[in-house]
Amino acid sequence: MITINENYLKLQASYLFSDIARRVAKFQQEHPEKNVIKLGIGDVTRGLPPACIAAFHKAIDEMADDSTFHGYGPEQGYDFLREAIASHDFQSRGTEITADEIFVSDGAKCDTGNIQEIFSEDIVIAIPDPVYPVYLDTNVMAGRTGDFVDGRYKDIVYLDCNKENGFVPALPDRPADLIYLCFPNNPTGSTATKEDLQKWVDYARKNKAIILFDAAYEAFIQDSSLPHSIYEIDGAEEVALEFRSFSKSAGFTGTRCAYTVVPKKCVGWDKAGTPHSLHDMWNRRHCTKFNGVSYPVQRAAEAVYSEEGQKQCEELITFYRANAEVVLQTMEGLGYECVGGINSPYIWIDGKMDSWEFFDLLLNKAGVVCTPGAGFGTCGNGYIRISSFNSHENVIAAMKRVKEALR
Ligand code: MLT
Repeated sequence: MITINENYLKLQASYLFSDIARRVAKFQQEHPEKNVIKLGIGDVTRGLPPACIAAFHKAIDEMADDSTFHGYGPEQGYDFLREAIASHDFQSRGTEITADEIFVSDGAKCDTGNIQEIFSEDIVIAIPDPVYPVYLDTNVMAGRTGDFVDGRYKDIVYLDCNKENGFVPALPDRPADLIYLCFPNNPTGSTATKEDLQKWVDYARKNKAIILFDAAYEAFIQDSSLPHSIYEIDGAEEVALEFRSFSKSAGFTGTRCAYTVVPKKCVGWDKAGTPHSLHDMWNRRHCTKFNGVSYPVQRAAEAVYSEEGQKQCEELITFYRANAEVVLQTMEGLGYECVGGINSPYIWIDGKMDSWEFFDLLLNKAGVVCTPGAGFGTCGNGYIRISSFNSHENVIAAMKRVKEALR
């Protein structure tokens, strides 16, 4: 008899964004006359930067010719992309990350979900609340949690993020081995200063812990005092892995390209207390389970770092920032307390009512889709998240409708 991984039975019925998509599809079926504006999932709407498209086309043409065709590429990514990443995203900020510490992949979602495989089953996980659900669900699947009771999994160290701490979690009151952090934060849009991150790095060094730092939204940072990478923090290259994505910075959500930095200095210990290189372990895992991102996609990603590519990506970010400003001004104008929207594409709004009720209200009365904060954890209850990823026209129309619905 085939038996199942019973950890899956602990999971909530469905993945947050699939659940929302189903509810919206049902609403649209029942109200075909209503034009729904989606400001829920953070999915970009603008076309790829022309520099990326040109590189993409050129690479496709190369694939058509026997003499320039590419078959399997290096699992870790082509050197041309790894070198561009190391130089532009890290060395230019004074950090020492090198190209061979970069692992190119098809998404930060997959990487943040898969990375836990290289750690032992019995480690203690610290996860912010609210949180991007992938960090939590993948640890549930791996059996690192107990049952789900009163909105929380047993055995997880939850790091509450709330108004009191400015949505930047305090250090845990119990030892934690693996710590998930994301800044600028999804879902709250909050940011962490160098001092905030230094505390975490010091904690990790002291406790022989590892930080998994998700920087998928760093391109939205406007405040020049804020760190874009955890490697801007002293000692981080010994205790932190970083996840980055071209999804939000260059519009690659449908194209798929991201990367994970695993510094060679990062180690984990076996039961006998012998240190092992996490870089070697992730390399082993990556080579075994992944065959690399396609050559044309990597050439398109490389073009992000060209002079025109950089300008065009900045223009994309500016475009979504303008949307975020409209959302922020509207919601604050209506008297709601908001976080994010300045160094982040997300606006986190204290709705002063149950999150799902607020979600239903906006959907039914305004035809606008948001994301209920409760879907990100118990500390998210009472909040909704509005994403700035849509056209200006749609964001303006959505905010007009929201104003009318909430007045
Ligand atoms: C979100 O809406 O939180 C993100 O789009 C999810 C993701 O990037 O996978």
